[in-house]
Amino acid sequence: MQIDLTDPGLWERNEFGEVLAWLRANEPVYRHEEPDGPGFWVLTRHADTLLVYGDDDLFSSRYGMRLDSNPEAVAAVAGRMLIVTDPPDHTRLRQLIGTGLGRAALPRIEEVVREVVADVVAGAVAEGELDFLDAAKKIPNHVVCALMGLPREHWEWVGDTMTESFDAEDAEEKLAADGELFVLFTELLMERREAPGDDFISLIAQARRRERGGASSELTDEEIIVNCHGVLAGANETTRYVMSGGLLELAREPAHLEWLRTAGPAGIASAVEECLRWTTPAVHVLRTVTRDTEIGGVPIAAGERVTAWNPSANRDEAVFTDPDRFRPDRTPNKHLGFGSGRHFCIGARVARLELIAFLTELVSGVARVELTGEPRYNSSNFTWGLRNLPVRLVPTG
Ligand code: HEM
Repeated sequence: MQIDLTDPGLWERNEFGEVLAWLRANEPVYRHEEPDGPGFWVLTRHADTLLVYGDDDLFSSRYGMRLDSNPEAVAAVAGRMLIVTDPPDHTRLRQLIGTGLGRAALPRIEEVVREVVADVVAGAVAEGELDFLDAAKKIPNHVVCALMGLPREHWEWVGDTMTESFDAEDAEEKLAADGELFVLFTELLMERREAPGDDFISLIAQARRRERGGASSELTDEEIIVNCHGVLAGANETTRYVMSGGLLELAREPAHLEWLRTAGPAGIASAVEECLRWTTPAVHVLRTVTRDTEIGGVPIAAGERVTAWNPSANRDEAVFTDPDRFRPDRTPNKHLGFGSGRHFCIGARVARLELIAFLTELVSGVARVELTGEPRYNSSNFTWGLRNLPVRLVPTG
């Protein structure tokens, strides 16, 4: 079996499933070569993926959490940006940033999600025939922009600039896109310090944490700015792929939509989890090993990089019955779509609310989903999913 998980064509052609299945069965701890680097370990089993997520002392995020990251850019934010920070700094950051998405913020989040999803789905149904990705990318983008209290006229620009920071052809363009977003967040933070509101930026700027010995700590401006960028990236580049990938299955198998119509809120909730498992847009995570260890009997040296592949864990026959079938009523569903452990997706609640609202609106407004062209996928091995999904949404009634 030819194995190159860094080949963009493998992802664009949606052919990676076979390679991951082979690795899972034959070499679950696999040494992957790199043309211009030292290579990395590839873990494809659910149990080994959980092991890596579960031990951040041994598997560190602070040297980068994905292949292809720029070491200087990572070093500039490590210890300050959640996703590339280890405990104890991570614990402090997570608690302070969590206030912006926590219980107190929930009623506002629910309201924003309901309004955005109803609006976008109604627009898509009115259009009838469309590339569904145009609608799907609006939902997470509008939700996160509204939660951050960004002025309406910036929303499209923010979404496009974030996508550029992930997708642009060359590294310079990516950096330029990031730079523009940092400037925007710096300006917004200054405004919110002057006049706080009930938005995410104001909430985290005001958050306080009591430290041992009675002192209190808060986020620095830099921590707020880089984590706003992190939250925007996490929100924008993932949820669209779950919605569109789920819709594709409803188009391929109309009986699923009929089932959802009668299954009630519990059915919608299980279908959301199955869409997360089935699509798994967060493809790999990377960790750097901090001391000599072994996984599944294979020795791994301190300083080496291990990658864990969520789409493979989510099709692991040892955990899921009939893993290659989309079953909206699947329970239990111990998928790792949001990761696990300390870095477990901080936006999981927001994403689930969006996905529940999306399926609920679909069930009430759409009688049938028809494919009108070939679905096409992006070529990323980091956040993967549909790039185009031409469909016709036939309204109910
Ligand atoms: C279906 C949608 C989503 C998926 C599949 C997803 C997936 C993930 C995964 C797998 C991780 C763990 C990364 C690691 O262990 O290194 C993660 C972390 C994170 N996600 Fe999400 N995410 C989604 C939606 C969101 C949303 C809506 C937000 C923001 C509102 C968000 C913000 C973040 C942030 C800031 C982190 C870093 C947490 C930390 O390091 O403690 N994500 N996400």
